[in-house]
Amino acid sequence: MDTTDSMREILIVDDRRENLLLLSSFLETEGYRVRMAVNGDMALMSIARKTPDLILLDIRMPGLDGYSVARKLKKNPITASIPVIFISAQDDVEAKMKAFEVGGVDFITKPLANQEVVARVRTHLQLIDYQKNLERRVNEGLAEIRKLNRELELTQNEMIVSLGALMETRDNETGKHVVRVAEYSRRLAELNDLDRESIDLIHVAAPFHDVGKVAIPDSILNKPGRFTPDEWEIMKTHAIRGWEIFRHSKRPVLKMAATIARQHHERWDGSGYPDGLKGEEISIAGRIVILADVFDALSHERSYKEAWPMDRTLEYIQNQRESMFDPDIIDLFTDNLADFLAIQASLTD
Ligand SMILES: [Fe+2]
Ligand SMILES: [Fe+2]
Repeated sequence: MDTTDSMREILIVDDRRENLLLLSSFLETEGYRVRMAVNGDMALMSIARKTPDLILLDIRMPGLDGYSVARKLKKNPITASIPVIFISAQDDVEAKMKAFEVGGVDFITKPLANQEVVARVRTHLQLIDYQKNLERRVNEGLAEIRKLNRELELTQNEMIVSLGALMETRDNETGKHVVRVAEYSRRLAELNDLDRESIDLIHVAAPFHDVGKVAIPDSILNKPGRFTPDEWEIMKTHAIRGWEIFRHSKRPVLKMAATIARQHHERWDGSGYPDGLKGEEISIAGRIVILADVFDALSHERSYKEAWPMDRTLEYIQNQRESMFDPDIIDLFTDNLADFLAIQASLTD
């Protein structure tokens, strides 16, 4: 252990000047910087000015005794970790017990053998070094773990957004659609007072609502004009297909993606697909994404339609109250319309 990086400073507290001078000159020749105090109050003042690396503390002094000084030091978080070695002519067990009780790390009996003092001082400074080093390494490790977690999270989010964008490209929609749906969904989740974790899960998983379209043949997916009834049935399977992609995952975000994929074409009145769920049988995440997805599809151009003006879009949504959408979510949406328009404006195609 390197103890020479800077000179260590030791405070010696003793009411006997001759003791102070002898000990300090010896410690100085051993390479330590030494400060001295002749009583408890002076010691505390000196420590308050500058924290020493270690304190050699006499017990019996006029005024504040060594025990009181140690107690005060331990109470202050700034000084609590300074090692205190008691020095005393008292050699009884009781004095020693008390010295350790008030937070001393060691006890040296007078008359002092200089070599012994130096050996103990060195040991305790090394212990402090080990401890600090250990703390530093634990903190570095924690910082590294946090960095890796953050990295994983960012990677996950980027993969999700890229995959969403890829799906939408194949579907002749713009990649921005999934990002907007994610942002609308997050805002709706917040307005629904969901907990932080659910809000984040919905935000990250919402772009996957149409992931099942990867299983739909291009000839159907990109067909200009109307679907035949058979084609429509195949098209509708994308909800279940999307769910199947993630259903075995134990990751909360992918479980959420599975739920959203399966439920994003359900309707509040039970007339949706694939399960015909009704009302709150549809999860809150599903109900949120249903509105976010339709709102975005209506207000933007698609291969089969023009972008609708906002008043027409809002009228349509109101007309679908209790048929397609959860009325509470419609209310949250319309009461906070400015938020959604701001998201839309920041993510134009
Ligand atoms: Fe869909
Ligand atoms: Fe969509």
